Amino acid sequence: MAYIDFSDKYSVGIETIDKQHIKLINLINTFFEAMKAGKGGETLKPTLAELIKYTQFHFSSEENYMQKIQYSRYGEHKHKHEALVAKILEFQHNLENEISGQAVLLLGFLKEWLTEHILVTDKAYSQSFIENGIR
Ligand code: FEO
Repeated sequence: MAYIDFSDKYSVGIETIDKQHIKLINLINTFFEAMKAGKGGETLKPTLAELIKYTQFHFSSEENYMQKIQYSRYGEHKHKHEALVAKILEFQHNLENEISGQAVLLLGFLKEWLTEHILVTDKAYSQSFIENGIR
């Protein structure tokens, strides 16, 4: 069983975004598998770097759509994205500095943050995106 399973309950009803969320979840699962297999920093660090890069791509993608349709909760949503990026960069810094226990803490944090964010914050834009033709 994967660390996080994507199921219908996480669908925001927009194929492009669902695909990005699936990719993000897969990257988190890859990080989990690497940690479980006892792989060291040489594997965990590039995996985390990829995860951060894709997270930033995904957030930009959502924010571009929001700007395009003048989504009323754009500022609030963007602020949540920025807070998440700052937090995972902090984890990355700690991992780089070999501070113990960071991988486990990061995984727990990401699982809780991402699932809650998709279910509440992302789902809040679904209707507006769909009404504006975003698929
Ligand atoms: Fe899918 Fe707002 O992140």
